[in-house]
Amino acid sequence: MIQLGVNIDHIATLRQARLADEPDVLQSALESLGGGAHGITVHLREDRRHIQDKDVFLLNKKIFPLNLEMSASSEIVKIALRIKPEKVCLVPEKRQELTTEGGLAVSKQMKQIDKVVSQLKKKGIVVSLFIDPIEKEIKAAKKVGANYIELHTGVYANAKSKSNRNKEVKRLRIGSELAYSLGVGVNAGHGLNYENTQQICQEVPYIEELNIGHSIVARAVFVGMKQAVKDMVRIIKNK
Ligand code: PXP
Repeated sequence: MIQLGVNIDHIATLRQARLADEPDVLQSALESLGGGAHGITVHLREDRRHIQDKDVFLLNKKIFPLNLEMSASSEIVKIALRIKPEKVCLVPEKRQELTTEGGLAVSKQMKQIDKVVSQLKKKGIVVSLFIDPIEKEIKAAKKVGANYIELHTGVYANAKSKSNRNKEVKRLRIGSELAYSLGVGVNAGHGLNYENTQQICQEVPYIEELNIGHSIVARAVFVGMKQAVKDMVRIIKNK
């Protein structure tokens, strides 16, 4: 079965709106695992708009496996090397964006990404690169030694028509097949929700893990975190 990593950034977004102690990020992680999630993902952004350093330290002590999404900036890499989470997913980061807007341009910064991937792998961290389903980027991910790629499903999720959605699914499928043939593991995520996740599960082969955040946290407002995760796990299981 495809594994579900639940991204709990927006539990922290709500907390930071009041700079308060609630909602509790660790509790949301525990409830996600109780609902059937296979792991927890958080993005430690350079501007610390939601997840804080203390969250990452605490989650890494209490939660397994923790997947840390992060930019390849030296400040954040230093933190990852100290904390040593189970997994790291390198993402591009722009300060003004609302969320991660595109995949990492690995081919344009091979030297820097190569260096960061080796530093992380040397500490035993499983490294994934968040990229668009583009042949050049998948080959570059292989070249720098990434264990996984995480295919960016945002363009698929934002497609307005069925034909555009199908076109994007095809790109994701071809990308996944290429990565698999190169021996690189495949994860996927971004913009997935209770309507569109099933198509990805059914039509994109070789996916080992989906990372889903916003839609689960949004549903949790009404049904609770555990139930929201259970509902998503059911979709993934019933593919
Ligand atoms: N994967 C990556 C690499 C991301 O940056 C994000 C957003 O933080 C997600 C998955 C989850 O996206 P969403 O919140 O749209 O489900």
